[in-house]
Amino acid sequence: MNEKILFTDKEISDNLDVLATKIDIYISNLPEKEQNKVMFIGLLTGCIHFVSDLTRKIKSDHKLGFIKASSYINNKRGDLTIDMNIGSIKDHHIIILDDICDSGITLNTIVNKLSAGSPLSIKTCVLVNKIIPNKQHVPDFKVFDIEDVFIYGYGLDYYDYKRNLKDIRIKTN
Ligand code: IMP
Ligand code: MG
Repeated sequence: MNEKILFTDKEISDNLDVLATKIDIYISNLPEKEQNKVMFIGLLTGCIHFVSDLTRKIKSDHKLGFIKASSYINNKRGDLTIDMNIGSIKDHHIIILDDICDSGITLNTIVNKLSAGSPLSIKTCVLVNKIIPNKQHVPDFKVFDIEDVFIYGYGLDYYDYKRNLKDIRIKTN
């Protein structure tokens, strides 16, 4: 397979340092009594390396939970299935972490579902945001913006493989 590296592991790591600082500042600006009521929720499976690397750079105290959300079937956008098992989010500031925001359907659906659990707030944070028209959700925090191309590596899959790559790649002809 001909491929090229879009973002190296060093670029990802350096940018996560910046993002972690931004999130620490966001948390430190919450009302003091609520600063220990922060919960990160990762969307499996693509979020794994992003969640692991980012949360270990974040200094503020927080809880961590995961939701299983799948929308891509054989690399095509399909119906969204959601498996939630995160306990109560009531009175918590939620930060949803995902690998990539494409159409925004996943994040929009999950924000709506989580709103029913009476959290104090919900923010979304992704490693990569695709610039496409008519997005259903625009993430609050993001690291990289890309065109509408299919990428893989660092958690993002290519037909269920390649999640283990340390960098993010794109196929070339
Ligand atoms: P959305 O609901 O269209 O925003 O799609 C979000 C989900 O689709 C992400 O969490 C990924 O799992 C998957 N996805 C979207 N674009 C890509 C891509 O370029 N590579 C791998 N997975 C992708
Ligand atoms: Mg995903």
